[in-house]
Amino acid sequence: AQVEKGGYKHFMAKEIAEQPVVLADALRHYLPETGLNLPEDLDFSNIDRIVLIACGTAHYACAVAKYWFEEFARIPVEIDVASEFRYREPPLSERSLAVFVSQSGETADTLAALRYCSERVAKTVAVVNVPTSSIAREADIMLPIFAGVEVGVASTKAFTAQLLVLAVMALKAGRDRDVTDGPTLSAHADTLRTLPGLLNQALSISEPIAHLAEQLAEAQDILFLGRGAMYPLALEGALKLKEISYIHAEGYASGELKHGPIALIDRLVPVIVMAPYDKLFDKTVSNMQEVMARHGMVLLVSDAKGISAAQDGTWGTLQMPDIAEPFAPILYAVPAQLLAYHTAVAKGTDVDQPRNLAKSVTVE
Ligand code: G6P
Repeated sequence: AQVEKGGYKHFMAKEIAEQPVVLADALRHYLPETGLNLPEDLDFSNIDRIVLIACGTAHYACAVAKYWFEEFARIPVEIDVASEFRYREPPLSERSLAVFVSQSGETADTLAALRYCSERVAKTVAVVNVPTSSIAREADIMLPIFAGVEVGVASTKAFTAQLLVLAVMALKAGRDRDVTDGPTLSAHADTLRTLPGLLNQALSISEPIAHLAEQLAEAQDILFLGRGAMYPLALEGALKLKEISYIHAEGYASGELKHGPIALIDRLVPVIVMAPYDKLFDKTVSNMQEVMARHGMVLLVSDAKGISAAQDGTWGTLQMPDIAEPFAPILYAVPAQLLAYHTAVAKGTDVDQPRNLAKSVTVE
């Protein structure tokens, strides 16, 4: 069936707005009232390493999930982009679990990486949006993300749905390996269940972002900073922005700022700081102050506590609802996407069909 824009100006705007419903669908499947619903044969108890392989936005979903698997299951996790993984012939073992994340399920490099792993690891798992795709068919276990058709070239709702499925997998890994206790796992599951409501609330920052975007659209370079699991989200924010607005953007780990990108800071460089009020907040704020001391334009994306603690001297703030620490990246995907979207709209670029990019890259 043909998908319509349904009153939205762009598919990307529609797909961003669909995220509460998409996550509710995925939650209904993977986290029903009865508990975790994942295939029995997805068993982490005898696995000694997880490799997470993908390209583009799906790769950043993997980069976030690494933090969850390590925290909940204390299992070593390796992440790589498929085009590197496939040619470096990584050593694998029968105790490795290999996970391939792909919206389309047809990305050539990801498929080649899957084929490399097929005979070499305990199990291959596909986290895909298209259940009839090549990657879905060739993996031992297929986990659909239930995002529905995604038309915008820059992935949005597939990203948050991938994150949700990876989060549920990480909870199962924590349980299978007896690393995280039952009450903690249930508390995490409950947090995931609040996401549709929180995402709905987060969507209301679209208007203030549209306003800020008028100025962001004038920038030549934009930096995104984050720490912990918010670091890969900073990478995703920068990727989205460069894909559709053609403004040069870089994501950096906040603590790495002093090792390079701080040289770029002046009055004209917006620096978007993704910092929920968590255990790393103070560290990130001190990096943010280093930017302000050099007259950088800081946009702080945080929650009520974080904003009241650190808004002095910022160029702007965006207030997000509160969410328990490990899952903030799922919620903060919304401002990352909307910043890119409104900046591109302000610049007048082709949001749904950015130049030189393809929705699915089936050639090398
Ligand atoms: C293309 C798209 C991206 C996507 C990437 C991986 O570059 O423009 O939005 O993240 O491919 O695609 P996949 O279908 O494997 O998730």
